Amino acid sequence: MPLFTRRNLLKASAVAGAYGVGVGIAGKFGLAEAAPEPQVLKALKTTASLADSGVTKDIMTWGDAGMPPVLRMTKGKPFAARLTNTLDEPTTIHWHGLRIANKMDGVPFMTQPYVYTGDSFDYAFTPPDAGTFWYHPHCNTLTQMGHGMTGVLLVEDPDDPVFDAEVVLNLRDWRLGGDGQFIAAFRPRDAAKTGTYGTVRTANWYQEPQYDAPAGGLIRLRIAVTDVTRIFSLKMEGAEATVIALDGNPVPKRFPLDLLLIGPGQRLDLAVRMPDSEGAVATLEDIRGTMPKTIAKLCAVGTSLKRNVGDLTALGENPVAKPDLSAAQKIPLILSATAESAPVDSICGTLGYSFWAINKVPWPGDTPDPTAPLAELKLGKSYILQLENVTPHTHPIHLHGMSFTVLSSSTRKVEPLVSDTYLVQPDEKVQLAFVADNPGDWLLHCHIIEHQKTGMTSYVRVV
Ligand code: C2O
Ligand code: CU
Repeated sequence: MPLFTRRNLLKASAVAGAYGVGVGIAGKFGLAEAAPEPQVLKALKTTASLADSGVTKDIMTWGDAGMPPVLRMTKGKPFAARLTNTLDEPTTIHWHGLRIANKMDGVPFMTQPYVYTGDSFDYAFTPPDAGTFWYHPHCNTLTQMGHGMTGVLLVEDPDDPVFDAEVVLNLRDWRLGGDGQFIAAFRPRDAAKTGTYGTVRTANWYQEPQYDAPAGGLIRLRIAVTDVTRIFSLKMEGAEATVIALDGNPVPKRFPLDLLLIGPGQRLDLAVRMPDSEGAVATLEDIRGTMPKTIAKLCAVGTSLKRNVGDLTALGENPVAKPDLSAAQKIPLILSATAESAPVDSICGTLGYSFWAINKVPWPGDTPDPTAPLAELKLGKSYILQLENVTPHTHPIHLHGMSFTVLSSSTRKVEPLVSDTYLVQPDEKVQLAFVADNPGDWLLHCHIIEHQKTGMTSYVRVV
């Protein structure tokens, strides 16, 4: 089991100086006038040691080796990245949760052309919100994401509260056989249910990694669930853990972590108060399923800093527009299973089945097709998505380009969380309100990639 010091961790996730100094004034969602030097993200195939049984071939990632880099940017400061593609298939990058211009959203054919083998594409944007986000391709995603292309992205705010250390966890599985090599990405009978689970679980591409953290200190634990299928029920054993942000946005009221469900695409920021005694270990566990599973461990080092979680200042609110509920128009959105239909041809990696639908329409992959948008929204107006899950499965529904506020649920008490991904439980009806303040075509889909790829996808058009 690998043991990391914070220094090594930071080194491993360090980002080559990429910000530069932008002199332009960034528009609300627009490009900066002067873009900084782009950070190069080279999409490539490589190998990795994920399981004891052997080195895994056909890993896909960005960068030179191993896990995709943890990208760091600053709220309100221009950022630029150059995707260069050395894979033998087209790719793109989607910046999950960032409210940026439509043409930077990374959805092939809808917002940009494919980036073919040998080609590159320049992304440039100014992140308006601080928080924990992530990035991934939006093309042949079950393969590209399944083989490694899921990276964490942090937008920092200079006014963030000060922690004694920060640990970033990229949680994902791998579908590997006994020889450590990739096996079939999915099974149709599972795709029609929860999705097909991986066989090897990792955090930062290690099984049950352990990180050092100052004893008695306050740790900002930033967690991103980047798996294509797995929903976690998280619990911290051996330390006090307080939820401070969900899906990049500060929670209205902090609360202790107690079996919080968090699905593919979602992020969780915790303030962890480390135990006082040197050598004490705090364990992050997933208790969904029959046996609790260790995800990662934090080991207390040094003499206690004796910090108190109550001393932490609040995270700054993100500038997400408040919907006008009195004037908001409602958009019904029914998530259902569909009669399995014949494979539809697709140029962007369909699975060849449809099992799922939004408002009874199964979408044939995230490709252009005659399907009309779910709704055409007026720029600046408020809307309420009335989401109803009539399936017996849980679906993390993600909206691109805009953040919504959770208004109410038919099955539980909800806080007015601001988010881009909502985990809709079986038989739940939920109301999500937002201001349509970002023009363009924006995907709305389930982030269980097999569900997305077998029909549970649509889009809204903001004009
Ligand atoms: Cu994580 Cu369509 O996105
Ligand atoms: Cu789903």
